[in-house]
Amino acid sequence: MGSLRISVVLLCFFSLAFCLSVSGRPATFLQDFKVTWSESHIRQIDAGRAIQLVLDQNSGCGFASKRQFLFGRVSLKIKLIPGDSAGTVTAFYMNSDTNTIRDELDFEFLGNRTGQPYTVQTNIFAHGKGDREQRVNLWFDPAADFHTYSLLWNHHHIVFYVDDVPIRVYKNSGRAPYPANQPMGVYSTLWEADDWATRGGLEKIDWSKAPFYAYYKDFDIEGCPVPGPTNCAANPRNWWEASNYQALNAIEARKYRWVRINHMIYDYCTDKSRYPVTPPECMAGI
Ligand SMILES: *[C@@H]1O[C@H](CO)[C@@H](O)[C@H](O)[C@H]1NC(C)=O
Repeated sequence: MGSLRISVVLLCFFSLAFCLSVSGRPATFLQDFKVTWSESHIRQIDAGRAIQLVLDQNSGCGFASKRQFLFGRVSLKIKLIPGDSAGTVTAFYMNSDTNTIRDELDFEFLGNRTGQPYTVQTNIFAHGKGDREQRVNLWFDPAADFHTYSLLWNHHHIVFYVDDVPIRVYKNSGRAPYPANQPMGVYSTLWEADDWATRGGLEKIDWSKAPFYAYYKDFDIEGCPVPGPTNCAANPRNWWEASNYQALNAIEARKYRWVRINHMIYDYCTDKSRYPVTPPECMAGI
């Protein structure tokens, strides 16, 4: 183990690119990921550059990154289940896998009846505390085509993007816990959750429409792998720490306001029944 560490450090010393990003972008599925749940329900297509996830009455499925990362940007393109997707949940998230002090960044795509909008629920766990749900109804049909979903995570903020539209910003404001010490893996799952997903559980899965298919491609993880070079995460020269990634620019800020005004349907920050006192991170601005 000791010599492996040393040779990795030497390799990093001579090839910085190897350490800062895992490989050339975008990667094939198996370069960065492994199946974690139901191998038979994940099919590689296009020579491994894309995958099909299957949900049927026997099983859903899931995959995870082979490595964990501390800061960076994860993005991928997803084409969600078309037509009647009520009761299904497709999730894309990062998770530190450290139970009581868990950090987690969640995108959950909640299916709907044909013609009704998909809802994207986001949540953030910092040091074991979650309960920070926000919900946005997508302003396009996410099953008609691939769209890019990404998480930017640096020392300044966490931004959830749908294509080039920031739908959520969580600042490292010093007022509330911020995920900054634990590396996180990248995960995705497709499963049935008709007890809560669609209209609060009123709309059930129509199994006569199964199997349900979602498609993923253009896997792109750029970040500091852990284990990896110890100085990577603190390096201010990582591109995701650069000044233009430290806050939303004017165009992004406009798009962010547009989403919140026109498409946000729930925000824990303004839910007085759950939070009589507004949580501190809600006052940090963007
Ligand atoms: C489903 O569609 C209904 C009706 O348009 C809408 O109220 C709801 O937010 C949509 N999303 C979910 C997950 O129920």
